[in-house]
Amino acid sequence: MSRWNEATQDALDRYTRDLFASEDDILDSIQFESQARGLPQIHIRPEEGHMLQFLLTAIGARRVIEIGTLAGYSSVWLVRALSPNGRLITMESDPERAQLAREFFKRVGLGGRIEVLDGPARESLRSIAPQGPFDAIFMDAPKDDYPAYLEWSIDHIRSGGLIMAHNAFWGGAVVGAVQRDERQLQSLLSFTHSVANDKRLLGTIIPVGDGIVAAIRL
Ligand SMILES: C[S@@+](CC[C@H](N)C(=O)[O-])C[C@H]1O[C@@H](n2cnc3c(N)ncnc32)[C@H](O)[C@@H]1O
Repeated sequence: MSRWNEATQDALDRYTRDLFASEDDILDSIQFESQARGLPQIHIRPEEGHMLQFLLTAIGARRVIEIGTLAGYSSVWLVRALSPNGRLITMESDPERAQLAREFFKRVGLGGRIEVLDGPARESLRSIAPQGPFDAIFMDAPKDDYPAYLEWSIDHIRSGGLIMAHNAFWGGAVVGAVQRDERQLQSLLSFTHSVANDKRLLGTIIPVGDGIVAAIRL
C-alpha cells in the first residue's frame, strides 16, 4: 500500500510551494514569454528551484554552472542563491533559446551575473575547464550525456561543492512506472548508479518534484 494517493501528493506539493517557493514577476514573465513563443513548458518546478537555492546557499556557492537553459527559468532560481559577486554560467545547445534567455536576463538586470554559452554542453564544459574549479553544477538536459557531465564535474567541482541533476525519477521511468526513451533511461540509471557508488562523492536523491540527484564532491 502506498503512503498516500496522488491527490494527497499534489496537495503536499502545493503546501510546500505556497510556503517556500512562491514566484515573483520575473519568474512569471519568463513563463509567459516562453509560452507565447511556443517553447516547451519543461522548466523545473518552483519547489525544485527553491531546493536548489537552499543547497547552493548552504555551501556559500559563488561560481555555478547550469546545463540546459531553455528560456532561463531555472537560471533565475540558481543565480538568486549566489552571493552578490557570484556568477552563473548556463549552457544551451539551441542558439535561439540561448539568445532569448540572454535578452531576458539583460532586461531584468541579471545580464551581468549570468553568462549564456551556446552550443553542446560537452564543448562548453571543455572551454571553461581552465576557469575551474567551480562550486556547483546543475544538469537539466537530455540524459545521454549525464555520465560524461558527471566525469567532468568530479574533476572540476571543488571539494565540498555540489553536483546536482534534474529528473532523478524521470516521471517514474527509473522504476518502470512509465515508458521513456530507453537509451536516455539507461544513461540516467548509469549516472545515478555512479553517483551512489563513487567513493569521491556523497550522493543522494532529494525527492522534491521529479527528484534531484545531489552529491557533495568529497
Ligand atoms: C529541460 S530543458 C531546460 C529547462 C531549464 N533548466 C529550466 O528549468 O528552466 C533542456 C534544455 O537543454 C537543451 N539542450 C539539449 N541538448 C543540449 C546539450 N547537448 N547541451 C546543452 N543544452 C542542451 C535543450 O535545448 C533545452 O532547452
